[in-house]
Amino acid sequence: MVDVAWSLDGKIALVTGASSGIGSHFSRVLARHGAAVVLAARRVDKLNDVVNSIIREGGKAFAVEMDVSSSESVDAAFAIIANQVGVVDILINNAGVSGDAVQLSDVSLDDWDFVMNTNLRGAWIVAKEASRRLVDAGKSGSIVNISSIYGLREGVFKLPYNISKAGVAQLTKTMAAEFSKSKRAIRVNALCPGFFDTELNSEFVNSDYGKKYISKTPAGRLGKLKELDGPLLLLVSEAGSFLNGVLLPVDGGHVIQPV
Ligand SMILES: NC(=O)c1ccc[n+]([C@@H]2O[C@H](COP(=O)([O-])OP(=O)(O)OC[C@H]3O[C@@H](n4cnc5c(N)ncnc54)[C@H](OP(=O)(O)O)[C@@H]3O)[C@@H](O)[C@H]2O)c1
Repeated sequence: MVDVAWSLDGKIALVTGASSGIGSHFSRVLARHGAAVVLAARRVDKLNDVVNSIIREGGKAFAVEMDVSSSESVDAAFAIIANQVGVVDILINNAGVSGDAVQLSDVSLDDWDFVMNTNLRGAWIVAKEASRRLVDAGKSGSIVNISSIYGLREGVFKLPYNISKAGVAQLTKTMAAEFSKSKRAIRVNALCPGFFDTELNSEFVNSDYGKKYISKTPAGRLGKLKELDGPLLLLVSEAGSFLNGVLLPVDGGHVIQPV
């Protein structure tokens, strides 16, 4: 018999950055485990494709346009969700961009702002709004922020990205600490993926340099999206009810690679 602690029946999940890659995959996984899933991003046509495929599988899914770098867009999207679906119990704060791959001296102000506004400020705005609505409704909830191994370890040529993801890691721990101090039943954890082949990094991981880099990591290969499913479900479901403020690498050991 399947342990009900892993079930998401009756839960409403919001996934940002659900129009491609990890976010669209997570939306399908959450729907298969019983959640009604709200998929958010800027490319609504792509969201609708994923929504339709979830519905064809028998799941519940809705699309909402959201630009996480705009607080007006986030507010408008939450108003639609509240009106049409309900209070979000599970937030997957996944929307992200990688920015330019350049040396420190060539990082532009525009690229810094673009990456920070999406990855860090955007994650904060969405988490703030989701948690405010949970508190107002007197409900418990689970927030999973998508950081990166580069939020935990050093990396080169991606200064704004790495700093934004370290910020997401600290956002995770600080929110978890504050909610537990104020006795709010909102758990906040983060997944820190290694390398997965998505739109974000396809060019790099399929380049000769990228393939060589990946071959030198402890696992010697890219992650498969399905290898994120167990960690995701653990953090969002009752199976992980005693996990709070955790930064969980899912990287085949990349983050503890000996120098
Ligand atoms: N792939 C990896 O190896 C890897 C490793 C570690 C961490 N991550 C993290 O995983 C997350 C998902 O990335 P991915 O690899 O799946 O890449 P992806 O396929 O490029 O997905 C990024 C998603 O973010 C959305 N997005 C970007 N800017 C947005 C904005 N301003 N507002 C709303 N949505 C926005 C995009 O949708 P629209 O363009 O439609 O808005 C897209 O759905 C990111 O946070 C990334 O940093 C990925």
